[in-house]
Amino acid sequence: MPHLFEPFQIQSLTLRNRIAVPPMCQYSAIDGLINDWHLAHYSGLARGGAGLVIVEATAVSPEGRITPGCTGLWNDGQAQGMARIASAIKAAGAVPGIQIGHAGRKASAHRPWEGDDHIPDDDPRGWQTLAPSALAFGGGLPKVPKAMTLDDIARVQADFVAAAIRARDAGFEWLELHFAHGYLAQSFFSRAANQRTDAYGGSFDGRSRFLLETLQAVRKVWPAHLPLTARFGVIEYDGHDDQTLDESIELTRRFKAAGLDLLNVSMGFSAPGGRVPWGSGFLAPIAGRVRREAEIAVASGWCVDDPKVAARVVADGEMDVVMIGRAHLADPHYPYQLALALGREHPAALLPTPYAYWLSRYRGPGTGSAQ
Ligand SMILES: Cc1cc2nc3c(=O)[nH]c(=O)nc-3n(C[C@H](O)[C@H](O)[C@H](O)COP(=O)(O)O)c2cc1C
Repeated sequence: MPHLFEPFQIQSLTLRNRIAVPPMCQYSAIDGLINDWHLAHYSGLARGGAGLVIVEATAVSPEGRITPGCTGLWNDGQAQGMARIASAIKAAGAVPGIQIGHAGRKASAHRPWEGDDHIPDDDPRGWQTLAPSALAFGGGLPKVPKAMTLDDIARVQADFVAAAIRARDAGFEWLELHFAHGYLAQSFFSRAANQRTDAYGGSFDGRSRFLLETLQAVRKVWPAHLPLTARFGVIEYDGHDDQTLDESIELTRRFKAAGLDLLNVSMGFSAPGGRVPWGSGFLAPIAGRVRREAEIAVASGWCVDDPKVAARVVADGEMDVVMIGRAHLADPHYPYQLALALGREHPAALLPTPYAYWLSRYRGPGTGSAQ
């Protein structure tokens, strides 16, 4: 029965525990470049004690950004900034990870706090979106994307490979391909978003092709001793869940055969209106099913908002690694809070010495040298 605070080994890496900070966009980049905000944010999170910190969805090309504030890895200047983040995460004792992706028909949107909807076509801040088929997402994202040609597909796959090389050279040790949340890769897999009649659509094999080919191409450049992972939406909560889950588990088996080391189990969000059963740890049984049936290591999360739930999903074998997002935004030292709540010995040992010393020993004025 593994414990949340037990190390997790994968390929040549050892995570100091099974707590991960999932990718969380900061929407604070300019031209895809990181700045002091990102550096402080990721350094602070890594100092909080998690075993793994994954940098936000980072676009493989300019048109692959969700918003104008998203980070990118399509040029070397962006990679230099990212190298500083990778090195800061590692120096704080966490494994540095990064998620790379392409937002497809959900790209060219306003930042969430500026509306979260598509930037209108006549606004020069926006851009032409790409997708498997010329079908709008709908709701607040009405832009009709360009249906990708075979050349577009080959170019985006090459962009994934180039971004993976930059991530590798920048010092990241964990790569997550963003195949989830209704973005480009997920929409190739979606029966609703992909209505192509060529080799990249139609049957299960056709809808899987873009994802599998991209994974295979990235695996060739991503070091064999480092984990290659993907975040993938295995369920849409759209009333067709049994079929989607069965297909997703079969695709996960194929991902594994193509060299995937771990799946970050998530939801599809391929169309508006999914009926997600939000609640503490609600996705854990689905993650556990993927882990058992595809026989692959699994990370997952979503609303793991209670220390006992975090401990249970690992102990019950539903997840190898638990992704805890918003609780880390509320308190970057959340792993320390988890350790306190679960009654771990020496919880402050998770923190850097200049913090841990005082939290473990200092009992008030007159008890030490720091008066
Ligand atoms: C501010 C914010 C940004 C996010 N950005 C990303 C992202 O870049 N990539 C991604 O796969 N998920 C993203 N998500 C989803 C989180 O990774 C995570 O799955 C979600 O917050 C649920 O976990 P939680 O309940 O522990 O917060 C984001 C979530 C938040 C709150």
